[in-house]
Amino acid sequence: MDIIRIGLLGLGNVGSGVMNILRQNINKIREYAGVHIEIEKVLVRDINKPRDIVFDEQLLTTNPQDILDNPDIDIVVELIGGIEPAFSYIKQAMVNGKHVVTANKAVIATYCKELFELADKNNVEIRFEGSVGGGIPLIDTITNKLAGNQIDELVGIINGTTNYILSRMSREGMSFEAALKKAQQKGYAEADPSSDIEGQDAIYKLAILAAISFGLHVSPQDIPCEGITRISEHEIRYAEEIGYAVKLLATARNRDGKLEIHVHPSLIPNHHPLAAVHDEFNALFIKGNAVGELMLYGKGAGSMPTGSAVIGDILDIIKMMRQSAKTGSSFVSNGEKLKVVGEESGSYYIRLQVVDKPGVLGIITTTLGKHDISIASVAQQGMGQELVPVIFITHEVEREKLDRGLDEIRKLSHVVGEVACILRVESY
Ligand SMILES: NC(=O)c1ccc[n+]([C@@H]2O[C@H](COP(=O)([O-])OP(=O)(O)OC[C@H]3O[C@@H](n4cnc5c(N)ncnc54)[C@H](OP(=O)(O)O)[C@@H]3O)[C@@H](O)[C@H]2O)c1
Repeated sequence: MDIIRIGLLGLGNVGSGVMNILRQNINKIREYAGVHIEIEKVLVRDINKPRDIVFDEQLLTTNPQDILDNPDIDIVVELIGGIEPAFSYIKQAMVNGKHVVTANKAVIATYCKELFELADKNNVEIRFEGSVGGGIPLIDTITNKLAGNQIDELVGIINGTTNYILSRMSREGMSFEAALKKAQQKGYAEADPSSDIEGQDAIYKLAILAAISFGLHVSPQDIPCEGITRISEHEIRYAEEIGYAVKLLATARNRDGKLEIHVHPSLIPNHHPLAAVHDEFNALFIKGNAVGELMLYGKGAGSMPTGSAVIGDILDIIKMMRQSAKTGSSFVSNGEKLKVVGEESGSYYIRLQVVDKPGVLGIITTTLGKHDISIASVAQQGMGQELVPVIFITHEVEREKLDRGLDEIRKLSHVVGEVACILRVESY
């Protein structure tokens, strides 16, 4: 039986998961692959660091060239994270004729076009299933199983940390700060949680999903984004009282040749399957013009789920090596005719704090009407206080018009205390 040799860059959470799965499922994997898979070398930063995993310590190295220049290694698995040196290592591996598997969302989101071209030029494969949705096979489903569709829409909960925090705020009435602390205690949030709670992690993942779904590479910095730091437990309760859940949604939608793409905390009606995605789970809702609507759901991170995605990519590459096939990565140029518009229009939830007296709602709706903002529903949440919360759900409106209308509302200081919150609403 042939041997396929792997060079592992990184032996942290995901690298250890890969090692564990290869050991636990060795027979199943060998039978499927028809070859022996051997880890030849493992790059780490610190050889002496204690590690929670049983393995041959002779495999460890701190010299990347032991892997990148090693003629015996067929597949390089990059699990270091961050842009550099991971990006340079991936490029060097491909130039040296090695296939690459990575779970690195930052590198793929930022440089996918360049990397796909380099893979084609060097006749090697690059796979990145673990970079979005951990163990959920999102990339394979979109690029292979749905290849016969035009994808019209993707709406995803693709960051487990923020979903866990919002779930605690909703179910236990916790404040944002308390829910974040709980997420850190449970290991769902890092000591520096900013990339998750500010939406950067979701932007990277959305850029990757958009590239493979719409054939267009949108640079992460061009994707409008808002995190969840300004969401309060009260806002979640107000939204729930009118039939919605609050989720951090990553959205990419082809609307008549325009690609709307953005990450925002949004209201989603309770009857939508995304509203039922709780805790650290992830889900991606996809609309294709042939398949219709479908949703993929599962663990979006973690050592073993992400390791599972990495192993799947390795096995896929081995299958291609045995058939001497090459897939090509041309999907990132098909969509260049789409115009990227970010957040153009939508339906919005607006909470105003208003004076509780007759005629106030009329003044507000007339003012909004002057800016072509029409109201789908209004709900007043309390009475008797000096200022009471009133919630408006608008019909579809351009964001610019909404902002102009709300600027005028802010000037109505005799009746409006505050424009307290603006959130997108996904209407289905
Ligand atoms: N963790 C998850 O659940 C998850 C889910 C999906 C995707 N991912 C992605 O998977 C990748 C790995 O994540 P992780 O959580 O496994 O990271 P991690 O636990 O921080 O592990 C990183 C590993 O890379 C090594 N390393 C870091 N910088 C290095 C350098 N300059 N030179 C040599 N070795 C270096 C570290 O060595 P030492 O061990 O010596 O420190 C460590 O073994 C990232 O791209 C991440 O975004 C992670």
